[in-house]
Amino acid sequence: MHSFANRATALLTLAVTILAITCAAASIFDNFNSPSPIANIKVFAFVAAEYETKNHVLNHGSNLRGKEFNLTLHWHVMPKTGKVFADKIVLSGHRLP
Ligand SMILES: *[C@@H]1O[C@H](CO)[C@@H](O)[C@H](O)[C@H]1NC(C)=O
Repeated sequence: MHSFANRATALLTLAVTILAITCAAASIFDNFNSPSPIANIKVFAFVAAEYETKNHVLNHGSNLRGKEFNLTLHWHVMPKTGKVFADKIVLSGHRLP
């Protein structure tokens, strides 16, 4: 009869052999796989013109003539599941005509 140590060694050898064959097969088949991830997202984007006024009333017309303003592009990326991602870019240094 085989001893416990003999059986344990045989079992360990079999397990390591199966693991090695699986690893080799995985790395061989990985070469034939071309990843093509597809994601459905919604992008909500808007541009805001931001300017400063002395008092916080809405200013229209000639009060804005020559005023400096920043254009800010905001975007919100909305995946079907998961966290909504939002960011913006500020383009500063514009002047109204
Ligand atoms: C435009 O943006 C710059 C920096 O991003 C800021 O210092 C400046 O106050 C902004 N100007 C206006 C009119 O909002």
